[in-house]
Amino acid sequence: MTDFFEEIYLQISATILESFPKFRPPVDLYVFDSAVGQVKKFHKAEARLDTDGQAEVAMIATEGRLFLLRDDYRIYASHLSKRLGMLLVEEGFSPVEVAEIFFLAFRDRMEQFFEQPQKGMLELLVKDISVLAEYLWIDPSRVEFLTQTLDKEYSLAVHSTNSMFIGLTLHVHAAGRAVEKDGLARVALGLLLHDLGMTQVPRFIRDKQHFLVRRDRESIENHIDAGLKMLQRLKIADPVVLECMRQHHERNDGSGYPDRRFGKDISMAGKLCAVADSFSAMIGVRPYRSSKDVAEAAIALIKDKRKYEPTLIKLLGEALAEGGWMNGAKASV
Ligand SMILES: [Fe+2]
Ligand SMILES: [Fe+2]
Repeated sequence: MTDFFEEIYLQISATILESFPKFRPPVDLYVFDSAVGQVKKFHKAEARLDTDGQAEVAMIATEGRLFLLRDDYRIYASHLSKRLGMLLVEEGFSPVEVAEIFFLAFRDRMEQFFEQPQKGMLELLVKDISVLAEYLWIDPSRVEFLTQTLDKEYSLAVHSTNSMFIGLTLHVHAAGRAVEKDGLARVALGLLLHDLGMTQVPRFIRDKQHFLVRRDRESIENHIDAGLKMLQRLKIADPVVLECMRQHHERNDGSGYPDRRFGKDISMAGKLCAVADSFSAMIGVRPYRSSKDVAEAAIALIKDKRKYEPTLIKLLGEALAEGGWMNGAKASV
């Protein structure tokens, strides 16, 4: 098939088809008729498919003749995101499309996890992380596509996902060829969970613009302790995850919290999480201010360089220069 064809249509393999709701496929389905060398619309999105219809669609998919419009893939990305393992074997997606599916998957997974931070949910999250770690480990240069899917929306789930994508980019740039699957997974979990304790801070305090009285500030700063207790309950004892959480508000010049540590006493995981968290916070829209674009956020961090690890700020600058940060289509499904 021609490149032009592949630009317009995406093949629906049997595995992708399995991720669809059976009775009502969420997108228009197309079939390739090899006799005439043309694609025809076969089934309308959301229309009901009876059992015979389902069998026919399954057969066409097995024959490799079932397609959807490439533009439509975002519509079903949330279905795909429930079967992330598939991304390791499917070859039809572009790296940006895969990055978007990962973004949506983690955003949704984190929303659920923040609502119910329990063991069962954690297991699902860890499974998703292992798929992402494997995907990046196979080809670390894929990390550059993660930064094209960052989102401006500010919610704890989006902030956590953005932080993970930014932090993993730094981690891969820092580790180079020595990057390990296990290391990627541990850093990813730390970045996703760094603000877990924020679920215990009332929303009106989190969103306050001015007049943070001492009690509000204490309540916000307490998200570290609250988070650590939650990690304990979840039996998470990995030092990388603990350091990410405990130290992401510490600053090299001793101006951070909760322990007012200086640079020499802050772990690498804590420093990496601090940069990723600050950058992620700046590019998000808050109720009281608009977001910074990525260049403005990077400049703000460079100006504050006494507070952050200089090697990480340098890596961030390099990664920014290389990749098209936030240039891709926004994940808005
Ligand atoms: Fe925090
Ligand atoms: Fe944060």
